[in-house]
Amino acid sequence: MKVRALWYTAGVLHLLDQRALPGRVRVLRLRTLRSTADAIRTMAVRGAPSIGAAAAYGMVLGKREGRYTPAQAARLLGATRPTAHDLFVGIEAVRKAWVAGDEVEEAADAYRSRIVEECHQIGTAGAPLFATTRRVLTHCNAGALATVEWGTALAPLRVARQRGARLFVWVDETRPLLQGSRLTAWELAREHIPHAVIADNAAGHYLATGQVDAVIVGADRIARNGDFANKIGTYSKAVVARENGVPFYVAAPWSTFDVRRPNGKTIPVEERDPLEVSEIAGHRLTPKGSPSRNPAFDITPARYVTAFVTPAGVVRPRALARLLARHSAAG
Ligand code: MRU
Repeated sequence: MKVRALWYTAGVLHLLDQRALPGRVRVLRLRTLRSTADAIRTMAVRGAPSIGAAAAYGMVLGKREGRYTPAQAARLLGATRPTAHDLFVGIEAVRKAWVAGDEVEEAADAYRSRIVEECHQIGTAGAPLFATTRRVLTHCNAGALATVEWGTALAPLRVARQRGARLFVWVDETRPLLQGSRLTAWELAREHIPHAVIADNAAGHYLATGQVDAVIVGADRIARNGDFANKIGTYSKAVVARENGVPFYVAAPWSTFDVRRPNGKTIPVEERDPLEVSEIAGHRLTPKGSPSRNPAFDITPARYVTAFVTPAGVVRPRALARLLARHSAAG
């Protein structure tokens, strides 16, 4: 069965609780804006496109509660996680409908469907890149869990496999919250896609010894020049890929592109609770007196990107601004 990160029926937002995976498949049933905001903040739902869709439904729940103005609802949901551009696009799609007196559920459903459709287009556009590539490395989880369905980084791999490509995926474990080893591996295992989980610090070894043919990741926010934010650790993978002549691809739907931002310098980087670094599942890993730091994302300069995989096709960084202008003009 296909993975679906979230769905909405009759006043209830259903979320696959990503904190419980892979040990338990648990569905949260949310009826309020506040519980939706908490689920985003605590990463029961995560991955930029899924966050955007969850926030869109959070707006719907907020309107049903009758306690918020559209602006208040947008502010509360927008304060949950600062880096993913999709969060703000999802909120805005429903805020506009709310203010205009349009049907907000329809607006959220349309937003969700658009994300799913764009991820499928990313899969189709990106699949030829992997027709003859065998060993692919990915970081974090940019699969169906992160995007409602399909995935961004995983979508081209899924479509390439359907077309007969024989792929093997190196899965970075992705400290501190282990989205790679818990979530990407879960998705790949369900579909019997050959893979191996590796410690984050092993990726350089595999890249340097010719055991990786391509790297593909998702993104949380992409500036007009192609600088992008993604899960902490992405930058170092991109640099090592370049050093070893391995192509590095970034896949994202339109909602991840922040066309008003000229470059990555001012992208907000979320800093999360240091306990996520110093503890795993309640077990202390560090001495009591040792502080830790926990930036959730890093910024990778566009010069390390071989190409972006977008719903409109594969594009080199230098052609990105032109593609974005065309897309914005088309509405
Ligand atoms: O902190 P997370 O797990 O929400 O971070 C997710 C990522 O960094 C993903 O790579 C990104 O959102 C792209 S998902 C298609």
